[in-house]
Amino acid sequence: MGEMNRSSLPDRAEVEARAAVLLEALPYIREFRGATVVVKYGGAAMSRPELKASFARDIALLKFVGLNPVVVHGGGPDISAYSQRLGLDVNFVDGLRVTDEPTMELVNMVLIGKVNKEIVAHLDVAGAKAVGLSGYDGGMIRARKATSGTADLGFVGEVDEIHPEILERLDEFVPVVASVGVDADGQSYNINADTVAGALAAALGARRVIFLTDVEGVYHDIGDPGSLIARCALADVEALLESGAVDAGMIPKLTAVRTAIRGGVEAAQIVDGRVPHSVIMELFTEQGLGTMVTAE
Ligand SMILES: Nc1ncnc2c1ncn2[C@@H]1O[C@H](COP(=O)(O)OP(=O)(O)O)[C@@H](O)[C@H]1O
Ligand SMILES: [Mg+2]
Repeated sequence: MGEMNRSSLPDRAEVEARAAVLLEALPYIREFRGATVVVKYGGAAMSRPELKASFARDIALLKFVGLNPVVVHGGGPDISAYSQRLGLDVNFVDGLRVTDEPTMELVNMVLIGKVNKEIVAHLDVAGAKAVGLSGYDGGMIRARKATSGTADLGFVGEVDEIHPEILERLDEFVPVVASVGVDADGQSYNINADTVAGALAAALGARRVIFLTDVEGVYHDIGDPGSLIARCALADVEALLESGAVDAGMIPKLTAVRTAIRGGVEAAQIVDGRVPHSVIMELFTEQGLGTMVTAE
C-alpha cells in the first residue's frame, strides 16, 4: 500500500474512471457468486513470467469475490523441452502428443512434479491457497486409451469417467488439476488438458469453462484474422468441426466445448491468454474478449 501522499492524489476524472471499472464488475460478481468456473490454463499465459503472475492474481480475485475457480493445465512446452533433453521423440497427430512409455513417465514427472507445483506456488504468491492434484488423486479421472483417428497414439487417453468428489471437498482451496488419468488396471494416460477441462466442467456442474490459448479466439477462416467469432451456438461449433476449418489444437478445444455445453455448462469461452487479465475481463465486463459458445 505505501504511504498516502496528499499531493499526488488522483484527479476527479481518474477516480471516476477507476470507480466505473469496479462498478461494471458488480453485477457480474453478484451473478457468479458461488458459481464454479473451470479454467484451462496453457500457452503463453503459462510460459511468460508476467502473464503467470497476472493469471494467478485473476484466479485469486475470482476466489476472493466468491466464485469457485478450478484450474486445469497441460504442460506441452515443458514436456517437449524435457523430451528433447532426454532424447525422446516429439510427435503430434491432430494436436495430440504421441505418448510412448518413456514419454508417459516424463509426462507424469513434468506435469505433476514441476508444472502443477509451479502454478500452486504462483497462486500462493497471489494470496490464494491452492492444492495441486492430478487426475489420479481421489480417483478423479478414470481414463481409457484414445481410439479416435487412425494412428496409435500410445498412452494418450480419453476421459472415461470423472469423479469430482475430491474437488468438492476442498472448500476454501483452489484446485489445480494436472491432466492425466488412470484406467482400472492402473495404467496412466496422458489426456489433452482441454478435454479434461470440458469433462470436469460438465461433471462439476460448472457455470462456465474458459480456455486460455495463444490466439484471439476461434476463427471462422483460420487464415483470416477478421473472421474471429465473438459468439456462436453449439450447432455452429459442430459445423466448424465438420467443415475442416479447424485443425491442430483447436480440435480438442472445440470438442471439449461440445462436451461442456452438452453437459449443461452455460457457456464456454475461448480467450487470448497472451492478453493480461483475460480471465477477469471475460467474466466481469460487458464486451468480453475471444469466442463465447452457448447452447443456442
Ligand atoms: N479455426 C481456428 N481458429 C483459431 N485457432 C485455430 C483454428 N484452427 C486451428 N487453430 C490452431 O489451434 C491452436 C490452439 O491450440 P494449441 O496449439 O493446442 O494451444 P493451447 O492448447 O495451448 O491453447 C492455435 O494456435 C491455432 O493455430
Ligand atoms: Mg492444446
